[in-house]
Amino acid sequence: MSPLTPPLAHRLDGLRSSAIRDLLKLTARADVIGLAGGLPDAELMPRDRIALAAESALADRARLQYTESAGWGPLREVLAARETARIGRPVPVEEVFVTHGSQQALSLLGEVLLDPGALVVVEDPAYVGALQVFRAAGARVVGIPLDAQGMRIDALTELLERGERPAVVHTVSNFHNPGGVTMSPTRRRELATLAERHGFWVIEDDPYGELWFDEPSPAPVASYSPNVIRLSSASKILAPTLRTGWMVAPDAVCRGVELLKQGADLCGSALTQQITTELLADEAWLSGHVDKVRRCYGERAEALVGALRDRFGERIVSTDATGGMFVWADFTDGVDTAALLSRAVDRGVAYVPGSAFAVTAGYRSSMRLCFTTFDAPTLRAAVERLALAVDE
Ligand SMILES: Cc1ncc(COP(=O)(O)O)c(C=O)c1O
Repeated sequence: MSPLTPPLAHRLDGLRSSAIRDLLKLTARADVIGLAGGLPDAELMPRDRIALAAESALADRARLQYTESAGWGPLREVLAARETARIGRPVPVEEVFVTHGSQQALSLLGEVLLDPGALVVVEDPAYVGALQVFRAAGARVVGIPLDAQGMRIDALTELLERGERPAVVHTVSNFHNPGGVTMSPTRRRELATLAERHGFWVIEDDPYGELWFDEPSPAPVASYSPNVIRLSSASKILAPTLRTGWMVAPDAVCRGVELLKQGADLCGSALTQQITTELLADEAWLSGHVDKVRRCYGERAEALVGALRDRFGERIVSTDATGGMFVWADFTDGVDTAALLSRAVDRGVAYVPGSAFAVTAGYRSSMRLCFTTFDAPTLRAAVERLALAVDE
């Protein structure tokens, strides 16, 4: 008798691996300038400072132990103080919850806030890590387009007027991944008002807010309503390996997330949480460090956007890249970026085609370019290679 293969759960039906992760495997060639990945620059990560903090953390054997599910107490206190300043209202420690990167907060929130079939509104193009979470939760996902001011609140209003009732609206409010844009203060206020009027949660997913180049990013959406759950992370300002993200949310949400985190991994790492605490609490050092990252990424962003505009002129419209890690660019003459990619890789440059971020379909002439890991001359060379591929 041939053995019967046991089935996997239905929730996996229709789930796909991130197109970007699959693509990265193809483009990870030494001769390719890879603008496809979305990684912060490891050269700018404070390795020596992390090593010192690790050494001092390990002086205490308690750091080898399990810690609280909601996060190591002193880290939550440091985060509560930071978020109080950022949001502009007192954030109690009980409303701060530490997660394994902000991605885990998204994943646990998917379970805490969503029943199967619930409606989730995301921005289109979307952060694919959020799409994966909401689809795995069995949600019905609808996209609202972005423009230069962020999520089109008029389109969200229309959807609500049609009688749709989202459980969650997800937004990457600052320096959108992949769209590159920042939601305007007016739209932040409007989104918060709609959340209260219609009784939905907003997940404000903000790992990039501190990476501004010219002027600080606006007050968070969370400043305007307690219906907003705010996520942030140490990944982009310190290092992803710390796997330290955090959530600011009302007590009931934190308690729900706590129950599920206990099932998922019991707790985070007391070691990396103490390291993160020491680095975030050293404000003088941190502000110098983040300034350096901002300056460096700002120069790179300017080089990439400048080269795109010089080389392509009106054939490309791109975001200005005022912060974060990404430029979103549209070919105005209909170039198919998915079809172009293999020619571009042959020429030695990689990007992510816009279609990889589309909620349903679209963005066939768009692409996301990450400027964080190459210096200005290399970014200019990348644009030259791209132009050769387009002209082929
Ligand atoms: C919009 C957004 N949210 C969340 C994350 C997850 O970051 P982490 O889990 O490292 O905090 C990312 C990572 O790229 C992101 O771009």
